[in-house]
Amino acid sequence: MLKKRIAQKLASHLPLSGEEIFQALEVPAHENHGDLALPCFILSRMLKQNPQQIAGEWAPKLTSDYWEVEAAGPYLNFKLNRPLVMEQYMSSNRDGAGFTAAPNIGQGKRVIIDMSSPNIAKPFGIGHLRSTMIGNALYHILRKIGYDTVNVNHLGDWGTQFGKQIVAYLEWGDDAAIAADPIKAYLSLYVKFHQEVENRPELELQAREWFAKLEAGDETALNYWNKFITDSKTEFQRLYDRLGVRFDHVLGESFYNDKMEAVAEELEQLGLLEESDGAMVVRLDDEGLPPCIIRKSDGSSIYATRDLTTALYRHDVMGGDKLLYVVGSEQTLHFRQIALVLERMGKPWSKQLQHVPFGLMRMNGQKMSTRKGKVVFLEEVLDEAVQHALLKIEEKNPDLADKHEVAEAIGIGAVVFGDLLHSRILNVDFNLADTVNFEGETGPYVQYAYARIQRLLTRAELEYGQQQADSTTYSFQEAADDYSWQLFKHLVAYPEALAQAAERSEPSVLARYLIECAQAFNRFYRHQRIFIENSSERTAKLELVKATGACLEEGLHLLGIRTPVEI
Ligand code: ARG
Repeated sequence: MLKKRIAQKLASHLPLSGEEIFQALEVPAHENHGDLALPCFILSRMLKQNPQQIAGEWAPKLTSDYWEVEAAGPYLNFKLNRPLVMEQYMSSNRDGAGFTAAPNIGQGKRVIIDMSSPNIAKPFGIGHLRSTMIGNALYHILRKIGYDTVNVNHLGDWGTQFGKQIVAYLEWGDDAAIAADPIKAYLSLYVKFHQEVENRPELELQAREWFAKLEAGDETALNYWNKFITDSKTEFQRLYDRLGVRFDHVLGESFYNDKMEAVAEELEQLGLLEESDGAMVVRLDDEGLPPCIIRKSDGSSIYATRDLTTALYRHDVMGGDKLLYVVGSEQTLHFRQIALVLERMGKPWSKQLQHVPFGLMRMNGQKMSTRKGKVVFLEEVLDEAVQHALLKIEEKNPDLADKHEVAEAIGIGAVVFGDLLHSRILNVDFNLADTVNFEGETGPYVQYAYARIQRLLTRAELEYGQQQADSTTYSFQEAADDYSWQLFKHLVAYPEALAQAAERSEPSVLARYLIECAQAFNRFYRHQRIFIENSSERTAKLELVKATGACLEEGLHLLGIRTPVEI
């Protein structure tokens, strides 16, 4: 990274370490103040001088081939020697590939990412969609910077509602309707149960009996339950396939059934369990939080019991060093409780448990309710996005060979990018027409810049053949104009964007970076002639183009977005 290199070089001139300088260096708001600025306040205590004096005295002492330095008030402003810096970078990053080299921040540490996690026989909600996309992006970004990432789909496949579901299925189940649209059919059965139980309280009793049978491992009950699971998974899989999302593990809540007793016992032995209205709870009064219920008065477990057991399993058995939970912000309290109970249990790693919350998503101004947000509805959203994309492609490039495939990549990419572009905690207002647009801050805008780059590179290859670009074949002397330099500065910031996105569990940092990089490229492209006679200048510019292509391609893939080479 540019800032790091310059900081290192400055460290041999100044009484500060490279790291201290790196932390202090700023990027001036205006280009004419140089590329980097060092506020001299950090030196004033040590040198017992005011920052203005320091800047004035040191400026003449800091001469180097790498920069011109100027004192401006309390700042030292550095204007970098563009051709020199660019040439050095390029020669160590042949073919642009080195631009996407990332620092090994993760050092092989295992991060387990809980993502998607829809509920069986219930609609795949918009929250699950956001969790899937954000989780998938984090999975790839963290892996890229050296973490050993493992993702888990923590399906909601257990709980008393399955007793109700069985009763409803036996009473009113219609296999043809289920085959046609399983989730819709199961949802209406569930709704019907709640209507009917008003007049027929015995249904509630039956439901409890069925759930008890299920918990006891009764074969008939298990068969019904398995059918719900198989039907739901098939539905969910269609979405995962279209989104290009895969899971290392699909472990539903039921997986922890035989592991909860041991956890309850451990809590008991530690003296953490207390009775409250017949239930067994861990009190969290000191933290001002409601108690965490471990066992209900009827002896059954709840969501929290299962999550506590899950966290222990992920740490102890799956070897997770860090546990991420990509779940809506409405569950913040739940995850605080889980982390606190683990802390009380004396697990120092409870600090490594991290809830990654996100806000709501509205579609064309409407809140997508779970009721409406059934699988079919989410698929309709994707279909509509693809439809928009197809229309745009027809306009732009009617002769494109695999239009439908490209439209699928663009439409879905638009939805994913639109979700990831804003800080995840914000509510996303989704307007499909704006999102699927080749102009503006959209996924298709970045995808289009990438396709344009591929076209340029293909042309270059046709006209000049495979070129061996090295310091003897290019020179940045003539390719150090403002547009090339701006683009170059964006390119070298790529690893920093990844590191930031990972550190803050915030894919929006990468999405924003890609927009800015594509914009810098488009400005460069508008103002530059690339196919020129002067071969060393042409090669230098083509090297920048290649590097841009490499960053955009990898960045989009990390976000889970496809990159058609032709649009
Ligand atoms: N199934 C839950 C829901 O739909 C989300 C589960 C999130 N993961 C977890 N470990 N609690 O609300």
